[in-house]
Amino acid sequence: MNFQSNLTHPVFKIISECADEMNVPAYVIGGWVRDLLLNRPSKDIDIVIIGSGIELAQQVAKKLGDNYHVNVYKSFGTAQLVFDEFDIEFVGARKESYRSESRKPIVENGTLEDDQNRRDFTINALAISLNSKNYGELLDPFDGLKDMNSKTIRTPLNPDITYSDDPLRMMRAIRFATQLNYTITEESLQSITKNKDRIKIISKERITDELNKIILAPTPSIGFKLLFDTGLLHKIFPQMILLYGVENRNGKAHKDNFYHTLEVLDNVCKKSDDLWLRWAAILHDIAKPQTKRFEPDHGWTFHGHEDKGSRMVPIIFAELKLPLNEKMKFVQKLVLLHLRPIVLAKSEITDSAVRRLLFEAGDDIDDLMKLCEADITSKNEYKVQKYLKNFELVRQKLKDIEEKDNIRNWQPPISGEDIMKAFNIKAGREVGVIKNAIREAILDGIIKNNFEEAQKLMLEKGKDLGLVSSSI
Ligand code: CTP
Repeated sequence: MNFQSNLTHPVFKIISECADEMNVPAYVIGGWVRDLLLNRPSKDIDIVIIGSGIELAQQVAKKLGDNYHVNVYKSFGTAQLVFDEFDIEFVGARKESYRSESRKPIVENGTLEDDQNRRDFTINALAISLNSKNYGELLDPFDGLKDMNSKTIRTPLNPDITYSDDPLRMMRAIRFATQLNYTITEESLQSITKNKDRIKIISKERITDELNKIILAPTPSIGFKLLFDTGLLHKIFPQMILLYGVENRNGKAHKDNFYHTLEVLDNVCKKSDDLWLRWAAILHDIAKPQTKRFEPDHGWTFHGHEDKGSRMVPIIFAELKLPLNEKMKFVQKLVLLHLRPIVLAKSEITDSAVRRLLFEAGDDIDDLMKLCEADITSKNEYKVQKYLKNFELVRQKLKDIEEKDNIRNWQPPISGEDIMKAFNIKAGREVGVIKNAIREAILDGIIKNNFEEAQKLMLEKGKDLGLVSSSI
């Protein structure tokens, strides 16, 4: 098979010329070739040469002209340069052997086949020759192309060797299976199950990187089910495992919150690509196991799981090395508020309840509504339709109230400064009491969200507190 027509970019021609001049075989290999065959154009090019990758990179840069700089990583024996939109890495073909306690291999020079052998999956071990004598020829010793056609994730070597050498590959197998909707071979799955403990030698950041890629796939539940079934999830995210299972008492069972969570996650993914909204879906019920009670009259309850769950978010984010910034606060907020629109949808919708929700959710109200709609996972289609219809009403009401009252990014019409000036007082308890009273009155619809009505209430409340107005 020849891919000459896919290698028309000048960069490949220049690499080809340099490799010919150096009289060494050179190949484009790995992710770029895989993505070419999958029709997913990629900007990262890996070049393997049977010789010195650093020397080839330097020759290529020389041919490109003065403006091109090679970054050399001597200790890795690699070199990198940026050309047009491409990030190109050059490395000599390697043979690697690993010790059990470390991911760091002992590296020796090797043949192309040695280099392909040490790669993670057959679909990532494809190489295309760049030398003029066989320019564009595909070298596929492990039938990667066949595996691509049958949508299979398979390791080139015995999976125990491939996964044990670099345990991050267990996450990568599941990540590729999820992104591409491929099937991992049974042998590989058994090996991941067997080698799962070795994930502990991988840094949390790299594991979470892969986890986030799974979460960003079109149907992340595929990956989470594989993580669960192989036991990897137990190692990397144990809090989520506690959601699994159904308890039955006096004929009353609650739903399996693990599978429910995955359904909510998949539902949210149909509506949004946002990683953090997806994390909110994963964590929305995370405190259900800790808040679960059996009340003989009502059955299973999970009172306060939204509050406890939102307090668990920073702990989980810290453990997973996710950022402890405004993204985390967004997830916390959504977990905390995730029941509110449901309560609204179930009962008579009052203006004041809608105003309060708008006030608390602010600009995140649309994401909150997406999460809540995704949270409807009843098998009863009638119920689903009923809830969704109610949510439409809630959405309409949110729109109406927002147009009328402007609560979404609410700024108090009267500031603390205004209150201090009006009564000639310093900052203190009274200012807070008056500010609260104004906010509550606006949210309850007792006064309008404007300066005049707020000022009137301020003067009344000041009087109640024994304050004397200085300006009026
Ligand atoms: N590779 C490997 N084992 C790893 C990581 C990478 O064998 N743990 C090999 C694979 O051949 C892979 C290539 O190195 O194709 C490049 O890796 P990388 O750029 O990390 O990933 P890609 O496969 O290109 O995929 P993505 O960019 O989606 O991570």
